[in-house]
Amino acid sequence: MISQNSIAQVFETARVEEVIGDFVQLKKSGSSFKGLSPFSEERTPSFMVSPVKQIWKDFSTGKGGNAVSFLMEHEHFTYPEAIKYLAKKYNIEIEETERTDEEKAQADTRESLYLVSEYANTYFQKTLHSTDHGKAIGLSYFKERGFTEETIKKFQLGYSLDEWQAFTDDALGKGYSIDFLSATGLTIVKGEKRFDRFKGRVMFPIHSMSGRILGYGGRILTNDKKAAKYLNSPESEIYHKSKVLYGLYYAKQGIAKEDNCYLVEGYTDVIQFYQTGIKNVVSSSGTALTPDQIRLINRLTNNITVLFDGDAAGIRASIRGIDLILEQGMNVKVCTFPDGEDPDSFAKSNTLEELTEYLNENAKDFIQFKAYLLVKEANNDPIKKAETIREIVNSIAKIPDQIKREIYIQECARIMDISENVLFSTLAQISKKDFQEANRKHKQEQKAFEVVKNVEQPKQKINVQYELERKIIEILMLYGDRTEQFEDLILKEDEVSGDLILEPTKHEARVFEKIYLDLQEDEMQFSNEQFKTLYYSIIDKLNQDENFSTKNFVNQLDQESAGTVTSILMEDEKYNLHDWERNQIIPKEKEHAVSQLVSQTILSLRCYLIDQKVAEYKNETLKEGSDTRSIIEDVKDYVGLKMLLSRKLGKVIG
Ligand code: CTP
Ligand code: MN
Repeated sequence: MISQNSIAQVFETARVEEVIGDFVQLKKSGSSFKGLSPFSEERTPSFMVSPVKQIWKDFSTGKGGNAVSFLMEHEHFTYPEAIKYLAKKYNIEIEETERTDEEKAQADTRESLYLVSEYANTYFQKTLHSTDHGKAIGLSYFKERGFTEETIKKFQLGYSLDEWQAFTDDALGKGYSIDFLSATGLTIVKGEKRFDRFKGRVMFPIHSMSGRILGYGGRILTNDKKAAKYLNSPESEIYHKSKVLYGLYYAKQGIAKEDNCYLVEGYTDVIQFYQTGIKNVVSSSGTALTPDQIRLINRLTNNITVLFDGDAAGIRASIRGIDLILEQGMNVKVCTFPDGEDPDSFAKSNTLEELTEYLNENAKDFIQFKAYLLVKEANNDPIKKAETIREIVNSIAKIPDQIKREIYIQECARIMDISENVLFSTLAQISKKDFQEANRKHKQEQKAFEVVKNVEQPKQKINVQYELERKIIEILMLYGDRTEQFEDLILKEDEVSGDLILEPTKHEARVFEKIYLDLQEDEMQFSNEQFKTLYYSIIDKLNQDENFSTKNFVNQLDQESAGTVTSILMEDEKYNLHDWERNQIIPKEKEHAVSQLVSQTILSLRCYLIDQKVAEYKNETLKEGSDTRSIIEDVKDYVGLKMLLSRKLGKVIG
């Protein structure tokens, strides 16, 4: 786990213009930089970077943020990956926080598994390119399939010799331990004997989203009917088949850029598409998509196009899995290929233009596709037709968006020649059942949560700034994505008296934007390192993600931060309220609207910071040679400001 210290150091050191400058050509324009948006195809630059504010904004897509969020957006790094990338760039040594022995051992194991896998990757590639057998058997096989040298290198394809333990012996000789060779499945251990799992196969390494080797697929080259055509790495601590998509590492940028993901069945389909020039393509490696895999895609785009091989039986089977994709609110298209063709063979025998045209013309909306297919199957058989209705409505019921559901009902009524009413009432029945099911699940989840709630974090000694910072995190987590009416106080000088007054003005804003802007205006820095890090990552998340979800956010945090956040969210509210009152900070939060809670918290923090400023000034005046008069003027201003703020807060402090 990266320490909060290192994270803060990275944030302090990284210059947004330097970080982005590695990816986008920036030109100075006034006090900021301008460039062509890396997120869209544009001719006139609308991408701005502000070195002063250390932020970027892409006006063509509306995206924006800091250096870290740029890397997350552009490179699709996770938060820790972005931090590590920056640390490397700026030569900051990353300090890992203390872990329990168990955590350490686990992390060490994982790291060792990665190392073995990476070594194997180098070994298999070397075997392919520089041994006689590799060249004669493996390389010529890939060439025959139409892969270019460049493609073979890009996808790091390899060859495993047709010998019982050539790889295992080599790896052991290099000092890799048999335990890790066995745990990754590269070596099969049977008593005293060791075998290379992938003996005599061409190798397809499977990468994580950030490019680490997780496992392999190996294809046999003989026509042995008894042996599996493809052999895959077994599940291990680093390889979870259901959470990985083949090709995602190479496709992620293309998917985000094209705002669509092509899903194919096999390794070779991915590679052939990529080589032809369609780079936004991934494979689920021959099995139905899992929810985790869909989420991986969903982080990059809302649109998916499923490509089927050209046999009818396969299509019928694959269709069932697609409801899962609909359930996650994605737009699904499907595309079939001519009989006997699969994406691989079709891409191999066509140019990019032909392939693109084929996809554009033949990709059909999934619900429509399914409706047509069902109509054809039912073939006017009334009993079959009844089943058909249920089946199509089942899919429609999975779509979370109500408006979309209604449009589909209308569309399907037309295609299937059934009245809309029949479809709507079937939908109502199905939805009711789904609703009850969801409700039951929700209750179970709540129970699970209650158990966690009892595990209390040790209480901190009361410290006003600590409590306020913590409150801000809480508000962001709970209400950050809401849009609220705010009454902002604009500081003005009274025309008659010359006194400072605060004039209320109303405006609408999203809670997190309001907090971010207000704190920035005050040049407020979080004093607690952990809150500071959390704050920036929550703001980033809210900035990027229209559908911010507390649960998802917590899930992607490291253990320590996740612990802090959950304890903030779950802490007994009474305890909280009690302490607030005792310390005269913010009472009555409960019955106040969100916008007031936000304003009060920020105002309280301002008061507190002003107090500190005043104290600082007082110390200044004690120093020799200080300009006492101007300091006193400053203090007077601050004190005046504070009285106003306090009045606004509804109580007089000090
Ligand atoms: N697959 C597998 N195990 C098998 C067969 C297939 O894991 N015994 C997976 C592989 O990921 C494969 C995908 O399912 O890429 C699709 O299978 P298939 O269509 O049979 O393979 P192709 O990719 O068409 O293989 P090839 O063109 O090399 O024959
Ligand atoms: Mn094939």
